[in-house]
Amino acid sequence: MSPQQKALVLTQKQGNFELSSRSIPSPGAGQLLVKIQSAALNPVDWKIKDTGILGLVTHYPAVLGSDIAGIVEEVGEGVENFRKGDRVLAHGKYTNDLAAFQQYTLTVASFTAKIPSSESFDSAATVAVALDAAVVGLYGNEMGAGLTPPWTESAGDHESKKPIVILGGSSSVGSYTIQLARLSGFYPIITTASPSNEELVREYGATHFFDRNLSGKQLKAAISKVTDRPIRIVYDSISLPETQLVAWELLANNGTLVLTLPASVKEDEGKGRKAIHTFGYPHVPQNEELYRSSWAMVEKWLSEGTIQPNKYEVLPNGLEGIIEGLERLKLGQVSGVKLVAHPQETQ
Ligand SMILES: NC(=O)c1ccc[n+]([C@@H]2O[C@H](COP(=O)([O-])OP(=O)(O)OC[C@H]3O[C@@H](n4cnc5c(N)ncnc54)[C@H](OP(=O)(O)O)[C@@H]3O)[C@@H](O)[C@H]2O)c1
Repeated sequence: MSPQQKALVLTQKQGNFELSSRSIPSPGAGQLLVKIQSAALNPVDWKIKDTGILGLVTHYPAVLGSDIAGIVEEVGEGVENFRKGDRVLAHGKYTNDLAAFQQYTLTVASFTAKIPSSESFDSAATVAVALDAAVVGLYGNEMGAGLTPPWTESAGDHESKKPIVILGGSSSVGSYTIQLARLSGFYPIITTASPSNEELVREYGATHFFDRNLSGKQLKAAISKVTDRPIRIVYDSISLPETQLVAWELLANNGTLVLTLPASVKEDEGKGRKAIHTFGYPHVPQNEELYRSSWAMVEKWLSEGTIQPNKYEVLPNGLEGIIEGLERLKLGQVSGVKLVAHPQETQ
């Protein structure tokens, strides 16, 4: 029998999670086999379980989870920049052999990065999914605002002194969007969160903080005291119908609203405003070059502190701890941290 590992599987569409045994896969060309030390949880994981959303997962039993950090065990053909023993983080895929909620996974080398010695597996596991959503939302020519990535050769001071509003700055996606906005030169960087997270969002680089409970009108009035320049980019990390309405209220003519969930606001011809649903997932043909170039920067960004990973909370009970963690995410009980599981601690 091939070597086995423990995995948390979703038994069927909208079914339950169960601890199970699976074979450890072998890496194909361009892939790595990674022993997972830390796997972070994302809201999409409970949404897939509850609703089977968007057909992202088509085969059951399914292994979920997309945020991976671990140690390279085996290197597939053609991979030159990684070796056995490297500490890495990666963006998983909605395919059982490339998912996070298990003890071993394959990763795609192009969407894997080395973890600098300054970061732990836990902090590194918080990066992939939310950073990709921030990258594509701001810089994607497809599913994004199409801004010039500040790390490319053609980049100049494109967004310098332009304001940006990022709703939900203490969320994982919001935190990375703030940090990229700073890299792009936006100013002021205005964000919303609970008052208890004001210090956190300022650490990420927000220059102005407002309480998430302000109405659209109140927020607009407050922002008008910070800048008189038109707000042409609003990134709504939360994208619930109510935050989309706030974002729409703030957005100037010809501006772009970036959303992490489908649009509930209606684009208007007269004002030329766009609402774009982004999708941070590198395993699709759209934005391929952008993903390759951003993933090539991740190790440097982390080691130089350009990108600071999220704060995290480690869940008890290995893979089984994920079940309760997802429930907490669903109930909105997680604030300013990413939940992280340790698959190797599974009993
Ligand atoms: N399209 C994509 O590619 C993509 C990728 C990743 C995530 N998503 C989606 O994006 C959303 C955010 O994901 P995430 O992982 O960043 O979430 P998260 O970190 O789990 O979000 C928790 C945070 O949301 C904040 N929040 C909740 N409601 C808010 C509101 N009305 N205004 C401001 N902040 C609010 C809370 O802030 P306070 O505690 O400070 O109040 C909390 O810190 C989810 O719906 C997720 O499914 C989409």
